[in-house]
Amino acid sequence: MSTAATSLDLTAIRAQFPILQQPDPRGRPVIYLDNGASAQKPQRVIDKEIEVYSRHYANAYRGVYEFGQIVDDSVEATRQTVRDLIGAESQEEIVFTSGTTMSLNLVASCWGRHTLKPGDEILLTEMEHHANIVPWQMIAEQTGAVVRYIPLTSDYRLDLSDLPGLITERTKIVAVTGMSNVLGTLVDPRPLADAVHQVGGVLVVDAAQSILHQQHHVVNDGIDFLTFSGHKIYGPSGVGVLYGKREHLEAMPPFLGGGHMIERVFPDHSTWSPPPAKFEAGTLPIAQAIALKPAIEFVQELGYASIQAHEHDLLVKATEQLSEVPGLKIYGPGLDHKGAIVTFTLEGAHPQDLAFLLNKKGVCVRHGHHCTMPLHDKLGLTATVRASFGVYNTAEEVDQLTDALHYARKRLRLS
Ligand code: ALA
Repeated sequence: MSTAATSLDLTAIRAQFPILQQPDPRGRPVIYLDNGASAQKPQRVIDKEIEVYSRHYANAYRGVYEFGQIVDDSVEATRQTVRDLIGAESQEEIVFTSGTTMSLNLVASCWGRHTLKPGDEILLTEMEHHANIVPWQMIAEQTGAVVRYIPLTSDYRLDLSDLPGLITERTKIVAVTGMSNVLGTLVDPRPLADAVHQVGGVLVVDAAQSILHQQHHVVNDGIDFLTFSGHKIYGPSGVGVLYGKREHLEAMPPFLGGGHMIERVFPDHSTWSPPPAKFEAGTLPIAQAIALKPAIEFVQELGYASIQAHEHDLLVKATEQLSEVPGLKIYGPGLDHKGAIVTFTLEGAHPQDLAFLLNKKGVCVRHGHHCTMPLHDKLGLTATVRASFGVYNTAEEVDQLTDALHYARKRLRLS
């Protein structure tokens, strides 16, 4: 099994994912189309976690004994791999967190407390995940700053026609998704970076969805902060990344207080370690941080160009086939402007019922508001169904999704 557009060997890729080799709990093949929620793990990631716990587990940055040294070196090796992945200037700019949500809360809280004054503006977009809205609302409430939104065009892209009106002297932060988790809309960070830097502000990119589909280069793209989760890039859950430009991380106050983040603790005050330790209070997700490295290497070995070409083929096929299902409406921009996500409604079917019926055919999708209530309000919907693809998905699985939708229509007596 291989794809026409690329040299990817899907049989070999799928063979690396044990969960795809076994039947689901009902004995059916696994048709996993919920990669936007979390991606499956290749054997090398699972093996790495087992290796850490069974061969040399210790806390990180605590022990000079052999196990401690191996753990420290391994965590730093992942930091280096993340640095290479996103084109950061130094590995001190890579902070480990518990995931994208913590990374975004960290930036909002620490950068916000350091920077924001009453009347300053935080600019988001109408398609952000709640994790890139709520932390900004919270810091705005504490500082007197104001949250504003870049609107969407009628074809579900960012409307930048009035960029000078959106990014003004008051704008201190622009925080945008790299790729919408509902619409699949891809965002080019460069024009936003240029505009916000001109007024002395910073650009935050929430790469939770984009990181498994497309290359980010923080220096070339002018990104000040970039966040992502391990579990969405075929890595472990419980570990995430915050990239912050060195000068920002140095200027910001810490997030959590505790062990490892300090330089010196006195009875009445403390001083801080330099970044990244300043933002890594307490015990890291040790095995998870170490096992993030083989996940990233899996992506790097395939290459983003091949991954994108294959996923684009799936997106085209899914869009063509689903568009022919009577009553089905897809939400998202033209295919050249989106990643491998197809979000839809089916007239006469509640999204939850639809997801339930797709599951009867072994198809795993997500339904609901996908943590994007403001976007769903704008679409005039309370819920949608989302099929989100990863590199191991196949053209046959798109056919199975289409067949399952026709089955659901029959079960709901829509045909
Ligand atoms: N943010 C994840 C999603 O979109 C959980 O499903």
